[in-house]
Order: sequence, then C-alpha cells, then structure tokens
Amino acid sequence: MTSAPASSLPRHVAIIMDGNGRWAKKRYLPREAGHYAGMGAVRETVRAACDMGLENLTLFAFSSENWKRPKTEVGALMGLFRAYFRSDMDELVERNVRMRIIGHRGRVAGDIQQMIQDSEHRTAANTGLNLTFAFDYGGQEEIAATAREMARAAKEGRLDPETITPDLFASRLFTAGTPDPDLIIRTSGEHRLSNFLLWQSAYAELLFLDTHWPDFDRAVLAGALEQFAARERRFGALDSEAVA
Ligand code: IPE
Ligand code: IPE
Ligand code: MG
Repeated sequence: MTSAPASSLPRHVAIIMDGNGRWAKKRYLPREAGHYAGMGAVRETVRAACDMGLENLTLFAFSSENWKRPKTEVGALMGLFRAYFRSDMDELVERNVRMRIIGHRGRVAGDIQQMIQDSEHRTAANTGLNLTFAFDYGGQEEIAATAREMARAAKEGRLDPETITPDLFASRLFTAGTPDPDLIIRTSGEHRLSNFLLWQSAYAELLFLDTHWPDFDRAVLAGALEQFAARERRFGALDSEAVA
C-alpha cells in the first residue's frame, strides 16, 4: 500500500460521496443498490482513516437538497443510515472513533434523531478519529442559521455586533472546534461543492476524482493523500522561494 508521509497528512479530509446512482446504473442495478454499496465504501474509508492516523474525516451523506429526490429513494437512504448505526457503532467505539453529525436534525425521523444523539453520547469521550457525517446538511442553511442566532443575540443585547469576526462566526457554526478541511474530495466527476462546507472550504484543496463512491477504498484514499501532499498551499501569501 502506498501512503503519504505522516508529516504531510491533512488534518481534516472531507468527502462528497457522489456517484452511487451511476455506479448502480452501470451494473443495471437499482439506485438503492448503489447506496448500499456506498455504505461499504464508508466502512472501508473509516477503517483506512483510523489506520492512517487521520485526525478528522467528514463525510457528506445527505444534503438539504436531497429531500427533492423521490420518496422511495429518500426512504432507502434513511433506512441505510439506520442500518449503518446498528451495524457499525460497536466497531466505531472499539476503534476509539468520536462520531458527530452536522445538519438540520429536526427534519429526520424521531428514531434517527435518537440514534444520532445516542451515538454522539456513546463516543463523546473517544480520542481517535473525529468522524463527522453531514446529514440533512446544507452550507447556506448553516451560515443562515448562524447569522440568525447572532442577530437574535445582538437584538437581546448578548452580543456586540462590532465584535463579529470570521473567527467568532466560525465558532458558532456546526463545525466549531474542528479545523477547516485541508482537502475536499468529490468522487464521480462533478466539479462542484453542492452546498457542502461553504464557509469552511475557503482554503481547502479540492480534488475531483472520476471514481464512483462505491469503488472508493483505502488505495484511492492513499492516492488522494499523495496528490494532496504534492500541492503547494499559499493561503494568499507567497511561497518561501518567492520571498527569499
Ligand atoms: C451520492 O450518490 C449519494 C447521495 C447524494 C445521497 P448519488 O445518489 O448522488 O449518485 P449519482 O450522482 O446519481 O450517480
Ligand atoms: C451531493 O451530491 C450530496 C451528497 C453527496 C450527499 P448530489 O448528487 O446531491 O449533488 P448534485 O445534485 O449533483 O449537485
Ligand atoms: Mg449525485
């Protein structure tokens, strides 16, 4: 197995898990079969991330716009989410994974809300991989919710508007406390963010892969990390050679 040197390992990898439907279509299978296979890729990727010693992994599982899909497909995705919690929680606990969910929460079924709460509670003290699922998540919704909350605080005299800085704003987002993603991977060839981590992606390296999500595995992740290691990040400044 090839792997990037630990020193160049990103602190936070975020993945837009796209292409389940196309993976299934290629095989003359229903879209749901693609989502099921995608769950296997989630399992494999989380195991690989743990083994590589990655600090933070965020996986985009369901967007706030995915409710627009046919009811049957939404139902299948919710069913898979339940199945994942039931089948994988013990292993995640064993692997010292801390699990969190970012997203709306209030719109999904009550039993799923309960599973989310239980899993976050059960893994809260774990110190290994921080695994975040973006589930019923939309970046614009997240930013609007944060602005709404800060406006309310200002109106009630709990917040001085003059103190609002990017750092303060970030500390009120769902992702507070997690470093911004260094690397955002999108599988299956589309070159867009589709409302994922809009604020947090300001200086992320973007990597678009043709691989459909169900085919994503340890080797593809390792390859992505190698590509990341070869990127030069400047954050608006000049690289050291240009300064010298
Ligand atoms: C990603 O695969 C999974 C979700 C968005 C939930 P898609 O279902 O978007 O697959 P394609 O893009 O149609 O191939
Ligand atoms: C983005 O994929 C959402 C997830 C991967 C969960 P979509 O398939 O929903 O995005 P669009 O519709 O192609 O932009
Ligand atoms: Mg898609």
